[in-house]
Amino acid sequence: MDDKKIIFSGVQPSGNLTLGNYLGAIKNWVSLQDEYNCVYAMMDMHTITVRQTPADLRRRTLELLALYIAAGIDPEKSILFIQSQNPAHAELAWVLNCYTYMGELNRMTQFKDKSARHAENINAGLFTYPVLMAADILLYQTDYVPVGKDQMQHIEICRDIAERFNGLYGDVFKIPEGMLSKSGAKIMSLQEPEKKMSKSDPNPKGYISMMDDLNVIAKKIKSAVTDSEGKIEYREGDPAKAGINNLLSIMSAVTGRGIEEIAAEYAGKGYGDFKGAVAEAVVECIRPVREEYDRIIKDKQYLTDICAKGAELSYKIAQRTLKKVYKKVGFVI
Ligand code: TYM
Repeated sequence: MDDKKIIFSGVQPSGNLTLGNYLGAIKNWVSLQDEYNCVYAMMDMHTITVRQTPADLRRRTLELLALYIAAGIDPEKSILFIQSQNPAHAELAWVLNCYTYMGELNRMTQFKDKSARHAENINAGLFTYPVLMAADILLYQTDYVPVGKDQMQHIEICRDIAERFNGLYGDVFKIPEGMLSKSGAKIMSLQEPEKKMSKSDPNPKGYISMMDDLNVIAKKIKSAVTDSEGKIEYREGDPAKAGINNLLSIMSAVTGRGIEEIAAEYAGKGYGDFKGAVAEAVVECIRPVREEYDRIIKDKQYLTDICAKGAELSYKIAQRTLKKVYKKVGFVI
């Protein structure tokens, strides 16, 4: 790699990608490709912390890769790989497990949420999930991690683990920083706008899947929950405005225009008109991605070739850090 700064990020192939994943993460990754050295992965090892159907996981991992490319991630510019195809991730995660405290993992909101939702399967992997995530990031001497707001707590613990390790052994890891998008960092549910939009929402009207039919997407936006005030106004933190705030954020994220500017344009107009405009903008944002996706997903050979190249390249970079770590902790290398 040259002297550009390094970006690392990834998504779990745990279900159909939502508009939240797209606007909070992937859409922003595209524009970073020229200025930075970017490494983007499909995080399948994280996905098995919740039970999966093996054939579905395999299929969704390649679908996710196709979606990355359809969204504009260029495999010639960025390294794209499947986490489980690069053994350095599991190897560093083990070492970092020995430098992470139960107490700090216990505080993770995602662990608390997921263990409440999957009470029948609170496994050790779910608990140490953030340690594997720290390994993902630290292996590449990453400068920035573009993610949605919900992942910031995991970036914080990654920094803590890295600082602890550096404190003991010298400068082994670069301390990474999270990078949030301006308006898409937290897209909320369309039905319960006080909750984040999530692919695990049992009510499909709450989230937009990137795989939804375009008519269905428009319908879901038009039936989004709003309020009875009838004012298109962005009021941060006002629970009564959660629905409208969310639609304004979505509109801003898909068009690249400022929230204030959009609110001013629609001030005085009805919610019906505004929702119609948001629906159209979202559909027009997703349409080209879907068209590309439909083309790319057919070419399995192309996708598996990218994975093979990505696994090799990413391993080459990752094992430099891993070697350093092994040496520091006293392994014979
Ligand atoms: P995951 O798969 O849950 O989500 C992928 C990305 O989408 C963002 N996101 C959202 N952004 C805005 N609004 C939403 N409603 C919304 N929902 C999800 C997430 O913040 C994320 O950026 N632990 C990670 C995967 C991971 C990872 C990593 C990420 C594993 N190792 C290393 C970065 C670096 C996760 O579960 O993301």
